[in-house]
Amino acid sequence: MSSWQGLIDSPYRRWLPVPDTAPAVSLHEGATPLLRSAHLSAATDCEVWLKVEGANPTGSFKDRGMTIAVTVAAATGVRSVICASTGNTSASAAAYAARAGLEAVVLVPRGRIALGKLAQAIRYGARIVELEGTFDDCLRVTRELAAHHPAALVNSVGNELRLAGQRTVSYEIVDALGRAPDIHCLPVGNGGNITATWGGYQNYAKEGLAATLPRIWGFQAAGAAPLVHGTPVPNPTTRATAIRVGHPATWDGAIAARDDSGGLIAAVTDEEIFDAYRAVAHRDGVFAEPASAAGIAGLLREHAAGRLTAGQTVVITLSGNGLKDTEASLHDGYEPTETSAATSDVARALGWDS
Ligand code: F0G
Repeated sequence: MSSWQGLIDSPYRRWLPVPDTAPAVSLHEGATPLLRSAHLSAATDCEVWLKVEGANPTGSFKDRGMTIAVTVAAATGVRSVICASTGNTSASAAAYAARAGLEAVVLVPRGRIALGKLAQAIRYGARIVELEGTFDDCLRVTRELAAHHPAALVNSVGNELRLAGQRTVSYEIVDALGRAPDIHCLPVGNGGNITATWGGYQNYAKEGLAATLPRIWGFQAAGAAPLVHGTPVPNPTTRATAIRVGHPATWDGAIAARDDSGGLIAAVTDEEIFDAYRAVAHRDGVFAEPASAAGIAGLLREHAAGRLTAGQTVVITLSGNGLKDTEASLHDGYEPTETSAATSDVARALGWDS
Protein backbone atom coordinates (compact mmCIF):
# COMPACT_ATOMS: atom_id res chain seq x y z
CA MET A 1 0.00 0.00 0.00
CA SER A 2 1.40 3.36 -0.89
CA SER A 3 -0.10 6.34 0.88
CA TRP A 4 0.67 10.04 1.14
CA GLN A 5 3.65 10.62 3.42
CA GLY A 6 3.77 14.41 3.41
CA LEU A 7 5.55 16.91 1.16
CA ILE A 8 9.17 15.97 1.77
CA ASP A 9 8.68 12.30 0.95
CA SER A 10 6.65 13.10 -2.16
CA PRO A 11 7.52 13.79 -5.81
CA TYR A 12 7.64 17.48 -4.86
CA ARG A 13 10.84 16.90 -2.90
CA ARG A 14 12.93 17.94 -5.88
CA TRP A 15 11.58 21.47 -5.43
CA LEU A 16 12.36 21.54 -1.73
CA PRO A 17 15.70 22.70 -0.28
CA VAL A 18 16.00 19.79 2.15
CA PRO A 19 19.37 18.00 2.49
CA ASP A 20 19.21 14.38 1.26
CA THR A 21 20.31 13.07 4.64
CA ALA A 22 17.78 15.05 6.71
CA PRO A 23 14.98 12.88 8.09
CA ALA A 24 11.63 14.50 7.34
CA VAL A 25 9.81 16.13 10.24
CA SER A 26 6.32 15.61 8.88
CA LEU A 27 2.70 15.33 9.92
CA HIS A 28 1.77 14.26 6.37
CA GLU A 29 0.83 17.78 5.32
CA GLY A 30 -0.20 18.65 1.76
CA ALA A 31 -2.37 16.78 -0.76
CA THR A 32 -5.34 18.85 0.37
CA PRO A 33 -8.74 18.69 -1.39
CA LEU A 34 -9.46 20.81 -4.46
CA LEU A 35 -13.25 21.06 -4.54
CA ARG A 36 -15.42 22.55 -7.24
CA SER A 37 -17.82 25.13 -5.83
CA ALA A 38 -21.16 24.79 -7.58
CA HIS A 39 -22.61 27.98 -6.14
CA LEU A 40 -19.57 30.20 -6.83
CA SER A 41 -19.30 28.74 -10.33
CA ALA A 42 -22.96 29.57 -10.97
CA ALA A 43 -22.66 33.03 -9.39
CA THR A 44 -19.70 34.00 -11.58
CA ASP A 45 -20.27 31.93 -14.73
CA CYS A 46 -16.77 30.55 -14.19
CA GLU A 47 -15.28 27.27 -13.01
CA VAL A 48 -14.46 28.01 -9.36
CA TRP A 49 -12.38 25.63 -7.24
CA LEU A 50 -11.64 25.74 -3.53
CA LYS A 51 -8.21 24.63 -2.29
CA VAL A 52 -9.05 23.50 1.22
CA GLU A 53 -5.89 24.22 3.19
CA GLY A 54 -7.73 23.81 6.47
CA ALA A 55 -7.37 20.07 5.82
CA ASN A 56 -3.67 20.26 6.69
CA PRO A 57 -2.61 18.59 9.96
CA THR A 58 -2.73 21.71 12.14
CA GLY A 59 -5.56 23.21 10.10
CA SER A 60 -3.79 25.75 7.91
CA PHE A 61 -1.46 26.15 4.91
CA LYS A 62 1.36 27.00 7.31
CA ASP A 63 2.18 23.29 7.62
CA ARG A 64 3.54 23.25 4.05
CA GLY A 65 6.34 25.59 4.97
CA MET A 66 6.79 24.44 8.55
CA THR A 67 7.67 20.85 7.62
CA ILE A 68 10.61 22.22 5.61
CA ALA A 69 11.70 24.86 8.14
CA VAL A 70 11.64 22.48 11.10
CA THR A 71 13.21 19.58 9.17
CA VAL A 72 16.18 21.80 8.31
CA ALA A 73 16.33 23.37 11.79
CA ALA A 74 16.43 19.91 13.39
CA ALA A 75 19.08 18.69 10.94
CA THR A 76 21.32 21.65 11.72
CA GLY A 77 21.21 20.91 15.44
CA VAL A 78 19.36 23.94 16.84
CA ARG A 79 17.33 23.28 19.99
CA SER A 80 14.65 25.97 19.62
CA VAL A 81 12.52 27.56 16.96
CA ILE A 82 10.91 30.97 17.35
CA CYS A 83 8.16 32.81 15.48
CA ALA A 84 5.70 35.68 15.68
CA SER A 85 2.14 34.88 14.72
CA THR A 86 -1.49 35.87 14.42
CA GLY A 87 -2.10 32.27 15.47
CA ASN A 88 -1.70 29.78 12.65
CA THR A 89 2.07 29.98 12.31
CA SER A 90 2.42 29.50 16.06
CA ALA A 91 0.17 26.42 16.04
CA SER A 92 2.11 24.93 13.14
CA ALA A 93 5.56 25.75 14.55
CA ALA A 94 4.56 24.29 17.92
CA ALA A 95 3.33 21.05 16.33
CA TYR A 96 6.35 20.45 14.11
CA ALA A 97 8.74 21.40 16.92
CA ALA A 98 6.99 18.88 19.18
CA ARG A 99 7.42 16.22 16.52
CA ALA A 100 11.13 17.02 16.20
CA GLY A 101 11.76 17.24 19.95
CA LEU A 102 12.59 20.95 19.75
CA GLU A 103 11.44 23.82 21.91
CA ALA A 104 9.02 26.26 20.26
CA VAL A 105 8.84 29.88 21.39
CA VAL A 106 5.89 31.82 19.98
CA LEU A 107 5.06 35.52 20.30
CA VAL A 108 1.45 36.49 19.71
CA PRO A 109 -0.52 39.74 20.07
CA ARG A 110 -2.42 39.53 23.34
CA GLY A 111 -6.18 39.16 22.98
CA ARG A 112 -5.98 39.22 19.18
CA ILE A 113 -5.66 35.60 18.21
CA ALA A 114 -8.43 33.06 17.76
CA LEU A 115 -8.67 30.82 20.80
CA GLY A 116 -8.42 27.55 18.88
CA LYS A 117 -4.96 28.55 17.68
CA LEU A 118 -3.87 29.45 21.19
CA ALA A 119 -5.27 26.14 22.43
CA GLN A 120 -3.20 24.32 19.84
CA ALA A 121 0.05 26.06 20.77
CA ILE A 122 -0.60 25.39 24.47
CA ARG A 123 -1.26 21.70 23.92
CA TYR A 124 1.74 21.16 21.62
CA GLY A 125 3.84 22.51 24.47
CA ALA A 126 5.08 25.82 23.06
CA ARG A 127 6.44 28.56 25.29
CA ILE A 128 3.92 31.30 24.58
CA VAL A 129 4.51 35.00 25.08
CA GLU A 130 1.44 37.21 24.71
CA LEU A 131 2.66 40.69 23.83
CA GLU A 132 0.88 43.95 24.46
CA GLY A 133 0.96 45.08 20.83
CA THR A 134 0.24 44.09 17.26
CA PHE A 135 1.49 41.18 15.15
CA ASP A 136 3.97 43.62 13.63
CA ASP A 137 5.39 44.30 17.11
CA CYS A 138 5.66 40.54 17.69
CA LEU A 139 7.58 40.11 14.45
CA ARG A 140 9.99 42.96 15.23
CA VAL A 141 10.80 41.50 18.66
CA THR A 142 11.08 37.97 17.27
CA ARG A 143 13.61 39.06 14.65
CA GLU A 144 15.64 40.93 17.25
CA LEU A 145 15.65 37.91 19.58
CA ALA A 146 16.54 35.46 16.79
CA ALA A 147 19.49 37.64 15.79
CA HIS A 148 21.06 37.26 19.24
CA HIS A 149 19.92 33.88 20.50
CA PRO A 150 20.41 30.36 19.14
CA ALA A 151 16.83 29.85 18.02
CA ALA A 152 15.86 29.27 14.38
CA LEU A 153 13.48 31.93 13.05
CA VAL A 154 10.61 30.09 11.36
CA ASN A 155 8.59 33.05 10.13
CA SER A 156 8.60 33.18 6.35
CA VAL A 157 10.55 36.45 6.47
CA GLY A 158 14.20 35.56 6.16
CA ASN A 159 13.21 31.93 5.83
CA GLU A 160 13.21 30.87 2.22
CA LEU A 161 12.46 27.34 3.43
CA ARG A 162 8.95 28.30 4.44
CA LEU A 163 8.23 29.88 1.07
CA ALA A 164 9.66 26.86 -0.78
CA GLY A 165 7.25 24.62 1.12
CA GLN A 166 4.28 26.92 0.55
CA ARG A 167 4.94 26.89 -3.22
CA THR A 168 3.77 23.27 -3.28
CA VAL A 169 0.15 24.41 -3.18
CA SER A 170 0.48 25.63 -6.76
CA TYR A 171 2.13 22.39 -7.90
CA GLU A 172 -0.79 20.43 -6.45
CA ILE A 173 -3.33 22.68 -8.16
CA VAL A 174 -1.73 22.39 -11.61
CA ASP A 175 -1.33 18.64 -11.18
CA ALA A 176 -5.02 18.31 -10.19
CA LEU A 177 -6.47 20.57 -12.90
CA GLY A 178 -3.99 19.57 -15.59
CA ARG A 179 -3.31 23.29 -16.15
CA ALA A 180 -2.84 26.52 -14.23
CA PRO A 181 -6.05 28.41 -13.42
CA ASP A 182 -6.70 31.75 -15.10
CA ILE A 183 -7.04 33.46 -11.73
CA HIS A 184 -5.90 32.52 -8.22
CA CYS A 185 -7.58 34.36 -5.32
CA LEU A 186 -6.21 34.36 -1.78
CA PRO A 187 -6.16 36.32 1.48
CA VAL A 188 -3.07 38.43 2.17
CA GLY A 189 -1.60 39.26 5.57
CA ASN A 190 2.15 39.28 5.95
CA GLY A 191 2.63 38.68 2.22
CA GLY A 192 4.40 35.32 2.32
CA ASN A 193 1.69 33.15 0.86
CA ILE A 194 0.89 35.30 -2.16
CA THR A 195 4.62 35.40 -2.91
CA ALA A 196 4.98 31.63 -2.57
CA THR A 197 1.83 30.82 -4.55
CA TRP A 198 3.00 32.94 -7.47
CA GLY A 199 6.51 31.45 -7.20
CA GLY A 200 5.10 27.95 -7.42
CA TYR A 201 3.25 28.69 -10.65
CA GLN A 202 6.37 30.33 -12.05
CA ASN A 203 8.48 27.26 -11.26
CA TYR A 204 6.05 24.98 -13.04
CA ALA A 205 5.87 27.27 -16.06
CA LYS A 206 9.67 27.52 -16.27
CA GLU A 207 9.96 23.74 -16.41
CA GLY A 208 7.19 23.43 -18.99
CA LEU A 209 4.85 21.73 -16.52
CA ALA A 210 2.24 24.48 -17.04
CA ALA A 211 1.70 26.30 -20.34
CA THR A 212 0.21 29.41 -18.77
CA LEU A 213 0.41 31.49 -15.60
CA PRO A 214 -2.55 32.73 -13.55
CA ARG A 215 -3.29 36.28 -12.52
CA ILE A 216 -2.90 36.53 -8.75
CA TRP A 217 -5.72 38.35 -6.97
CA GLY A 218 -4.86 39.05 -3.32
CA PHE A 219 -7.31 40.44 -0.79
CA GLN A 220 -6.71 42.27 2.46
CA ALA A 221 -9.25 43.27 5.08
CA ALA A 222 -10.26 46.91 4.62
CA GLY A 223 -8.99 47.89 8.09
CA ALA A 224 -5.68 46.14 7.50
CA ALA A 225 -4.85 46.87 3.89
CA PRO A 226 -1.34 48.37 3.77
CA LEU A 227 -0.55 46.83 0.36
CA VAL A 228 -3.69 48.38 -1.09
CA HIS A 229 -2.87 51.83 0.31
CA GLY A 230 0.84 51.54 -0.43
CA THR A 231 1.80 52.43 3.12
CA PRO A 232 1.95 50.58 6.47
CA VAL A 233 -1.08 50.73 8.78
CA PRO A 234 -0.01 51.34 12.40
CA ASN A 235 -3.17 50.01 14.05
CA PRO A 236 -4.72 47.41 11.77
CA THR A 237 -8.27 46.33 12.58
CA THR A 238 -10.42 43.47 11.29
CA ARG A 239 -12.41 40.64 12.79
CA ALA A 240 -10.43 38.34 10.49
CA THR A 241 -7.60 38.21 13.03
CA ALA A 242 -5.34 35.95 10.95
CA ILE A 243 -4.73 38.78 8.48
CA ARG A 244 -4.61 41.66 10.95
CA VAL A 245 -1.17 42.76 9.74
CA GLY A 246 -0.19 46.40 9.29
CA HIS A 247 3.34 46.12 7.92
CA PRO A 248 3.76 42.99 5.79
CA ALA A 249 7.28 41.58 5.97
CA THR A 250 7.18 40.18 2.43
CA TRP A 251 5.97 43.47 0.96
CA ASP A 252 8.06 43.40 -2.22
CA GLY A 253 7.20 39.79 -2.96
CA ALA A 254 3.49 40.51 -2.67
CA ILE A 255 3.70 43.52 -4.98
CA ALA A 256 5.77 41.53 -7.48
CA ALA A 257 3.21 38.70 -7.46
CA ARG A 258 0.50 41.25 -8.22
CA ASP A 259 2.37 43.15 -10.92
CA ASP A 260 4.25 40.32 -12.65
CA SER A 261 1.06 38.25 -12.90
CA GLY A 262 -1.05 41.15 -14.14
CA GLY A 263 -3.17 40.71 -11.03
CA LEU A 264 -4.43 42.92 -8.23
CA ILE A 265 -4.46 43.38 -4.47
CA ALA A 266 -7.72 44.88 -3.22
CA ALA A 267 -9.57 45.40 0.05
CA VAL A 268 -12.72 43.64 1.22
CA THR A 269 -14.82 44.76 4.17
CA ASP A 270 -15.41 42.61 7.23
CA GLU A 271 -19.04 42.44 6.19
CA GLU A 272 -18.10 40.97 2.82
CA ILE A 273 -15.66 38.59 4.52
CA PHE A 274 -18.31 37.33 6.93
CA ASP A 275 -20.93 36.97 4.18
CA ALA A 276 -18.45 34.74 2.32
CA TYR A 277 -17.54 32.89 5.55
CA ARG A 278 -21.22 31.98 6.04
CA ALA A 279 -21.84 31.11 2.40
CA VAL A 280 -18.90 28.76 1.90
CA ALA A 281 -19.93 26.75 4.95
CA HIS A 282 -23.61 26.77 4.13
CA ARG A 283 -23.38 26.28 0.36
CA ASP A 284 -20.18 24.25 -0.07
CA GLY A 285 -19.96 22.43 3.26
CA VAL A 286 -16.51 23.86 3.96
CA PHE A 287 -15.91 25.45 7.36
CA ALA A 288 -13.10 27.94 6.78
CA GLU A 289 -11.91 30.57 9.23
CA PRO A 290 -12.98 34.17 8.57
CA ALA A 291 -9.67 35.32 7.03
CA SER A 292 -9.86 32.44 4.58
CA ALA A 293 -13.11 33.79 3.22
CA ALA A 294 -11.42 36.99 2.03
CA GLY A 295 -10.53 35.29 -1.26
CA ILE A 296 -14.17 34.44 -1.90
CA ALA A 297 -15.35 37.91 -0.88
CA GLY A 298 -12.78 39.36 -3.25
CA LEU A 299 -13.78 37.16 -6.16
CA LEU A 300 -17.42 38.21 -5.78
CA ARG A 301 -16.43 41.86 -5.56
CA GLU A 302 -14.29 41.68 -8.70
CA HIS A 303 -17.04 39.78 -10.48
CA ALA A 304 -19.48 42.57 -9.61
CA ALA A 305 -16.95 45.06 -11.00
CA GLY A 306 -16.89 43.17 -14.30
CA ARG A 307 -13.35 41.89 -14.06
CA LEU A 308 -14.13 38.21 -14.79
CA THR A 309 -14.70 36.65 -18.20
CA ALA A 310 -17.26 33.85 -18.44
CA GLY A 311 -15.68 30.42 -18.55
CA GLN A 312 -12.49 31.30 -16.71
CA THR A 313 -11.00 28.82 -14.26
CA VAL A 314 -10.55 30.28 -10.79
CA VAL A 315 -8.90 28.74 -7.72
CA ILE A 316 -9.44 30.21 -4.24
CA THR A 317 -7.16 29.35 -1.34
CA LEU A 318 -9.17 28.63 1.81
CA SER A 319 -6.19 29.11 4.07
CA GLY A 320 -7.39 27.90 7.48
CA ASN A 321 -9.96 25.72 9.23
CA GLY A 322 -13.09 27.24 10.75
CA LEU A 323 -12.66 25.21 13.94
CA LYS A 324 -9.74 27.42 14.90
CA ASP A 325 -12.10 30.29 15.59
CA THR A 326 -15.26 28.86 17.10
CA GLU A 327 -16.12 32.21 18.71
CA ALA A 328 -16.51 33.71 15.24
CA SER A 329 -19.21 31.18 14.45
CA LEU A 330 -20.92 31.11 17.83
CA HIS A 331 -21.21 34.90 17.98
CA ASP A 332 -22.49 35.26 14.43
CA GLY A 333 -26.24 35.15 14.84
CA TYR A 334 -26.68 31.74 16.40
CA GLU A 335 -29.79 31.47 18.54
CA PRO A 336 -30.33 28.08 20.13
CA THR A 337 -33.68 26.34 19.86
CA GLU A 338 -34.23 25.04 23.38
CA THR A 339 -36.88 22.56 24.50
CA SER A 340 -37.58 19.91 27.08
CA ALA A 341 -36.61 16.34 26.20
CA ALA A 342 -40.21 15.48 25.16
CA THR A 343 -40.53 14.53 21.50
CA SER A 344 -43.70 16.58 21.19
CA ASP A 345 -41.87 19.69 22.42
CA VAL A 346 -39.03 19.15 19.96
CA ALA A 347 -41.53 18.63 17.13
CA ARG A 348 -43.36 21.82 18.11
CA ALA A 349 -40.10 23.77 18.26
CA LEU A 350 -39.29 22.54 14.76
CA GLY A 351 -42.76 23.42 13.52
CA TRP A 352 -43.43 19.75 12.77
CA ASP A 353 -46.38 19.34 15.15
CA SER A 354 -49.25 19.66 12.69
N1 F0G B 1 -4.98 33.08 5.96
C1 F0G B 1 -4.70 32.63 7.18
C2 F0G B 1 -5.68 31.70 7.82
C3 F0G B 1 -3.52 33.03 7.85
O1 F0G B 1 -3.27 32.56 9.06
C4 F0G B 1 -2.65 33.93 7.20
C5 F0G B 1 -1.44 34.38 7.86
C6 F0G B 1 -2.98 34.37 5.92
C7 F0G B 1 -4.15 33.92 5.34
C8 F0G B 1 -2.14 35.32 5.16
O2 F0G B 1 -0.94 34.75 4.72
O3 F0G B 1 0.64 36.18 6.01
O4 F0G B 1 1.42 34.72 4.13
O5 F0G B 1 0.05 36.76 3.68
N2 F0G B 1 -1.14 34.14 9.07
C9 F0G B 1 0.12 34.50 9.71
C10 F0G B 1 0.26 33.79 11.05
C11 F0G B 1 0.37 35.96 9.76
O6 F0G B 1 0.99 34.27 11.91
O7 F0G B 1 -0.33 32.74 11.23
P1 F0G B 1 0.37 35.65 4.62
